[in-house]
Amino acid sequence: MIIVTGGAGFIGANFVLDWLAQSDEALVNLDILSYAGNRETLASLDGDARHIFVQGDIGDKELVARLLAEHRPRAVVNFAAESHVDRSIHGPEAFIQTNIVGTFNLLEAVRSYWGGLEGEDKANFRFLHVSTDEVYGSLGKEDPAFTENNRYEPNSPYSASKAASDHLVRAYHHTYGLPVLTTNCSNNYGPYHFPEKLIPLVIHNALAGKELPIYGDGQQIRDWLYVKDHCSAIRRVLEAGVLGETYNVGGWNEKANLDVVYTLCAILDELNPRADAQSYKTQITFVKDRPGHDKRYAIDASKLERELGWKPAETFETGIRKTVQWYLANAAWVENVTSGNYRNWVAKQYA
Ligand code: NAD
Ligand code: TYD
Repeated sequence: MIIVTGGAGFIGANFVLDWLAQSDEALVNLDILSYAGNRETLASLDGDARHIFVQGDIGDKELVARLLAEHRPRAVVNFAAESHVDRSIHGPEAFIQTNIVGTFNLLEAVRSYWGGLEGEDKANFRFLHVSTDEVYGSLGKEDPAFTENNRYEPNSPYSASKAASDHLVRAYHHTYGLPVLTTNCSNNYGPYHFPEKLIPLVIHNALAGKELPIYGDGQQIRDWLYVKDHCSAIRRVLEAGVLGETYNVGGWNEKANLDVVYTLCAILDELNPRADAQSYKTQITFVKDRPGHDKRYAIDASKLERELGWKPAETFETGIRKTVQWYLANAAWVENVTSGNYRNWVAKQYA
């Protein structure tokens, strides 16, 4: 079995759902259920003995040590993090605590467990750390996409805290021999995305008749990957990645924010036209820019393709349409998130 941390968040939950849809290997899902953790996303796994959910902190060394000793996993996949740049600007401390101190404590517990393994169990064990392209900083318009050899130049408290965690993971390999793998992925989108991030926020606000806030001039560029492609990349790296290596994950889908919002509006105009027949574009509003806003991210994922044969299944066009369709079909999930009801979901569900 494996242990997944942060498996009630956006990417972690997609990973857990996909994992159990494709294999019978059980997993322990350790998640603190911060504002971003949502058990409702995992409702289809209720009663499934292969999914063992534990509410707890990756920074709780005793808890993690107990889970490792009890379940004896062959791998730990670390998604748990504070992940929203805007929140990191308003309150960086939680980012330092979870992304840096939490990852450190997790590594310590894992190092101790791995040190006690023997033979094949020891040789086959993996610690996979899920990270972001934002650690590489911001690109100019003409710069080549980030490769694994780019310098780390994080610009936000979020990316700085993720960069620190990546460094710790690297150091645990070089110093202690811990069998680690790191993935650095571009911006994800898809089902179960918390509507504080650009794509789900725009879909939600559009349907709610609210403004669609564009920071600055909307010409910042992000490189978008459908979340299920990120999950398949992680599975592939876990299976075949070379120990101590890092792998960039992306789908060659660079888009300016404003173009992403235009695309979302066009799909919504087609699938769910406004009652007054006007385009959702009329709801676009330009607002104050994010401080220190990174201009452009772009991922060169050719190492992952060349060495491990991974390719994304979705283009931006197919993935974004699926995403809008998912949000239209899952209004109750969005409503529970935006109203805050998801926080009471566990209590209600298991009362
Ligand atoms: P998310 O914010 O949706 O989910 C994070 C999850 O971690 C939540 O369920 C939360 O409850 C949990 N968590 C937070 N602190 C914890 C702690 N101390 N102990 C245990 N659990 C804790 O984030 P996401 O978008 O799913 O991102 C997952 C990972 O992928 C993060 O490490 C992030 O840096 C990385 N990443 C995200 C993106 C993206 O576009 N969202 C892109 C590349 C990499
Ligand atoms: P976001 O989804 O927060 O991801 P990240 O900051 O990690 O890239 O933002 C994506 C881009 O969209 C980023 O350039 C900021 C911009 N943005 C807006 O223009 N308006 C918004 O309301 C949000 C949330 C983001």
